Amino acid sequence: MGKLDEVYRRSMEDPDGFWAEQAEAIDWDRKWDKVRDDSGAPHFYRWFTGGKLNTCHNCLDRHVAAGRGDQTAIIHDSPITGTKRSLTYAQMLDRTARAAGMLKAMGVGLGDRVIIYMPVIPEAAIAMLACARIGAVHSVVFGGFAANELAKRIDDSGAVAILSASCGLEPGRTIEYQPIVEKALTLSKGTVKSIAVVARDQAPWTLKEGRDVDWTQALEAATPTECVSVEATDPLYILYTSGTTGMPKGVVRDNGGHAVALKFSMKAVYDIEPGEVFWTASDVGWAVGHSYTVYGPLLHGATSLMFEGKPVGTPDAGVFWRVIEEHGVVTLFTAPTAFRAIKKEDPKGDFIGKYDISTLRALFLAGERCDPDTLHWAEDMLGVPVIDHWWQTESGWPMAANPLGIEKLPVKAGSPTRPVPGYDVRILDSRLNEMPRGEMGAICVKLPMPPSCLPTLWQADDRFISSYLVDYPGYYKTGDAGYMDEDGYIYVMGRTDDVINVAGHRLSTGAMEEILAAHPDVAECAVVGVADPLKGQLPLGLLVLKAGVDRPDAEIAAEVVKAVRDEIGAVAAFKTAIVVKRLPKTRSGKILRRSIAGLAEGQAVEPPATIDDPLILDEIKDVMAGSGVRK
Ligand code: COA
Ligand code: AMP
Repeated sequence: MGKLDEVYRRSMEDPDGFWAEQAEAIDWDRKWDKVRDDSGAPHFYRWFTGGKLNTCHNCLDRHVAAGRGDQTAIIHDSPITGTKRSLTYAQMLDRTARAAGMLKAMGVGLGDRVIIYMPVIPEAAIAMLACARIGAVHSVVFGGFAANELAKRIDDSGAVAILSASCGLEPGRTIEYQPIVEKALTLSKGTVKSIAVVARDQAPWTLKEGRDVDWTQALEAATPTECVSVEATDPLYILYTSGTTGMPKGVVRDNGGHAVALKFSMKAVYDIEPGEVFWTASDVGWAVGHSYTVYGPLLHGATSLMFEGKPVGTPDAGVFWRVIEEHGVVTLFTAPTAFRAIKKEDPKGDFIGKYDISTLRALFLAGERCDPDTLHWAEDMLGVPVIDHWWQTESGWPMAANPLGIEKLPVKAGSPTRPVPGYDVRILDSRLNEMPRGEMGAICVKLPMPPSCLPTLWQADDRFISSYLVDYPGYYKTGDAGYMDEDGYIYVMGRTDDVINVAGHRLSTGAMEEILAAHPDVAECAVVGVADPLKGQLPLGLLVLKAGVDRPDAEIAAEVVKAVRDEIGAVAAFKTAIVVKRLPKTRSGKILRRSIAGLAEGQAVEPPATIDDPLILDEIKDVMAGSGVRK
């Protein structure tokens, strides 16, 4: 039996013993009464009930107390602004304690919700940790979302304060945050009372008397604040993620289970030692950024690199290698799309030869399916293990991986390897039977899920149950479909719902359809994800116009494209809509989205047996060919 088999078996046979052991690596103010609390079964499970701790203490104070004060905690490398800066653990602690004091002065207290709307700057990490320090619950909103999405998150969380910056920066474009935040505030219900703003040189923010404070001045004036002890089961943060409707799901993360699982993963999965430089190239607004730019590395006493740039164009396809060389990065974690972008610009890897990347030990990829071509290219170019691993916002840490810190298993292209200890992953049919090896089914996790996985959705227990727990009683439904091979390797092939994955970003086609359907000329619509060689998938909209509308199709298409950008944000990458006469449907009225996507991808699509009128597929094929959509 291999080392992984042994660790995995222990996590299944004695989860309480296994996780109690991992929890020893965390500082507790009060030890837990129960490791795994199933008193809320069959739907609600909690970890480390009765235990008390503070996540910020475990990220900062404990390391300073243990002598790591002078070690770099955060390196910020921003090719977009041409700046670099580092903060030691002692400096992070000082600023975070002051930011916590600032929050208190802003009237934020234990359990209050705080929206963080910031670009990838150290202040974003400080803001998150400062909330954790006083027991406030943060909800980071990705900067690529527009005012409407920000407003939804303010309202659903009931946030009392916002921590923001004057702008975000995209190549060639400054995104001023004040107009977005002001618009979101007018759209929202008015719970927000105060805002702290990091002033950046590239854009102004006009402070509003009685509401806004300048981050730098407020920190200087603030009284440093100590950590409060919170329950292990208290929420640390809410992170909204796309579901099937326009209303995102508020994934709740607790304090205790999260700290334990993330600390465990830093060594077990990523094979990182405290003091080493770990780089997760993701925005802090995504789960990946929460867990592996901020919390994971800091809980572990590692150095986390925050990167404000793109894999290409800031300034070129060599920037990743420059950053690795300059900062001695040991492990890089990003989405496959980033490597596809680099490969497209620099297929022979000429830029790699210009830098010394010998510190790099491994590349981890997640966020979307990793195509074998990209995996092999990265392996050939970097000469280090390239590890595809699979997880989601709901889990907060890897569900399947090649856990380098336990045992490196052979890599199989197309597979994120095996379930991580703690996850009892099963491939099921609709009657809860396990699929034979090699056959596709719904990827589920037998309950209870391990620590860090969502205990519920924010103030939406019913939605939590109906979204994840009803279809496969006793299991958590991941929403992914795939299979397991003879060696227990998992293959994640796609979603079973209307979620699509664009450049590693999870988006809801349902949310886009709601916007298209609201256009006055649109009678019916569908949005599907179409395979794209760079971004994995891209959304495509199909519009059926109301009878009597005689405006040019292109004009209406342009209006819905603008509406999606205005309401969801640029990140939706919704650039194409076509007008068709009818939508293909089953006899029961369900839109045949897979067939539409297949047509756009240039596939020979066989009309499904349930189709109402097979001729519609030919009509759509012709429109797609005429508009250049069909590949
Ligand atoms: N604030 C404002 N706008 C943003 C934004 C942000 N934080 N992030 C992205 N956008 C905008 C982009 O500028 C782009 O706008 P455009 O339509 O005007 O060009 C749009 O949203 C789409 O962004 P994206 O899908 O990221 O495309 P891109 O062409 O800018 O970059 C990649 C493509 C592959 C280089 C980029 O997606 C990337 O680096 N991905 C890395 C992996 C990653 O972050 N994964 C997520 C979690 S693992
Ligand atoms: P998010 O919640 O934004 O992290 O997105 C999670 C979803 O991304 C998963 O449910 C999968 O659909 C997809 N995903 C993440 N990692 C992988 C992977 N390694 N392979 C295939 N799909 C992945």
